Amino acid sequence: MVRFGRLQTGSYARSEKPERMKEKFEALDAKKAEALQGGGEARIKKQHEKGKLTARERLELLFDKGTFEEMGMLVTHRSTNFGLDKQKFYGDGVITGYGKVNGRLVYAFSQDFTVLGGSLAEAHAEKIVKIMDLAMKNGAPVIGLNDSGGARIQEGVVSLGGYADIFYRNTLASGVIPQLSAIMGPCAGGAVYSPALTDFILMVEQTSYMFVTGPNVVKTVTNEDVSSEELGGAETHATKSGVTHFAYENEVEAIEHLKKLLSYMPSNCEDDAPRLPYEPGDERRPNLNDIIPDNPNQPYDIREVINGTVDADSFLEVHKDYAENIVVGFARLAGRSIGVVANQPAVLAGVLDVNSSKKGARFVRFCDSFNIPLLVLEDVPGFLPGTDQEWNAIITNGAKLLYAFSEATVPRVTVITRKAYGGAYDVMNSKHIGADMNYAWPSAEIAVMGAKGAAEIIFRKEISAAEDKAAKHKEKEEEYAELFAHPYNAAARGYIDEVIKPEHTREKLIRAFEMLENKVDVLPKKKHGNIPL
Ligand code: HXC
Repeated sequence: MVRFGRLQTGSYARSEKPERMKEKFEALDAKKAEALQGGGEARIKKQHEKGKLTARERLELLFDKGTFEEMGMLVTHRSTNFGLDKQKFYGDGVITGYGKVNGRLVYAFSQDFTVLGGSLAEAHAEKIVKIMDLAMKNGAPVIGLNDSGGARIQEGVVSLGGYADIFYRNTLASGVIPQLSAIMGPCAGGAVYSPALTDFILMVEQTSYMFVTGPNVVKTVTNEDVSSEELGGAETHATKSGVTHFAYENEVEAIEHLKKLLSYMPSNCEDDAPRLPYEPGDERRPNLNDIIPDNPNQPYDIREVINGTVDADSFLEVHKDYAENIVVGFARLAGRSIGVVANQPAVLAGVLDVNSSKKGARFVRFCDSFNIPLLVLEDVPGFLPGTDQEWNAIITNGAKLLYAFSEATVPRVTVITRKAYGGAYDVMNSKHIGADMNYAWPSAEIAVMGAKGAAEIIFRKEISAAEDKAAKHKEKEEEYAELFAHPYNAAARGYIDEVIKPEHTREKLIRAFEMLENKVDVLPKKKHGNIPL
């Protein structure tokens, strides 16, 4: 009793502590208020005038109301170079922390362009590194809201070191936790390389840019006159370079989609993606019977097949405007998250080329890393011929897609809707490279090449010897088509598990993915493979 006597007298604590603590509380409130104000009213106004939200406003949109916990709010930079000692900002230009997004734990950083251009230096980097390390240990995604001029010039090599610390963690975290990057302003240098190491990039039209060096440096080095928008705007990266996977009209829309994108993914590589409730019903989809045109050379939009098969309104297309001859994206089937890879006959007849192979391969690897089953819809006349493709390494790039599918151990199902010709038949998740279930519609044509080209090659002598060459060619073409332009040779060999009417596709897929739910497939022991990069 003697030991605790003083502590037990409540009157002692009440008479002496409150005044001292009150002052301390006020000092804390003042510091936090200053930190919360970010770069100050004038700077916030400047940000709004550019059509951009502030770093804090973005986080408010991202996290479930009241769940965001900030870390390192009172961190400041340490450099005294170039008068930096006279202008200290709490937070050092980045807000970091954790909270809930649609009820799930997520870590995030949001760069504040109003503080030294959101540039990254020692303290700023340490804050990002801290949440990345926590995210790895706790198995939850990291979202970066990037708005930064890159390495802070005033802090020299320390800034570069800070970036490298982040790049290193981006790489170690790859395939362990999902990493998503939203580009919310002009991002240069390291501010683009870190996003490039993450899984998905979103950009905002007209207000966000990504470039290694800006238009001024480009002008000096190459004498090219180019605007920021043209060099590295959302449209450029969504259509030409493929650097960004998504482009949105404004930041609110971008953040909404960021949350939606996250909903298809598990929190880490050992989890499964969240499943939505699903009520079984009539799964037949008679509309699918009317999509394939009578003329095998007539295009159709593969999105009609995707949307007609997966759960209503669940398809989220990735890389929508880049390499449009292949369509990839997330969807749900009976409430379960799946990745869809589909040739697009409406663009370049759905042929595989350099860019579509890279696009498909990257998506397949993401899905495989995070236990998201793969559905392949196949209608592909082969690889695109030509010097442009050969000189841009269609061999190496096509091999990426082949490698990505071959290596994937998630449940894999293919539906051949029409053409499956040549090497592209092998590449597009064929049975031979490890697909689990392979279906074909009766319209499928599975062969080394199309009837016209095949007849020209194997019946060349007969055709040239014939009096009516055109008639002979047609006759031989029909002969070939009869023999090969259907799915039944493949079905006879078991390369196709079942030939199905289009209207049964959805129910067959639901059953197949359910059957494959507990699939375990192990790759040979190795350090890591050597994908043809
Ligand atoms: C310090 C910077 C900064 C930087 C911008 N600012 N970038 N401060 N270090 N890297 C400051 C500006 O001085 C300015 O301060 C404020 O941020 C706003 O910049 P503005 O130029 O007025 O804005 P804007 O016209 O919108 O142009 C944005 C920009 C441009 C395109 C990002 O600022 C720019 O080109 N910055 C330099 C980009 C760069 O070269 N970074 C280093 C890359 S090297 P005041 O006080 O005037 O408001 C790198 C290496 C990493 O990152 C390793 C890669 C592998």
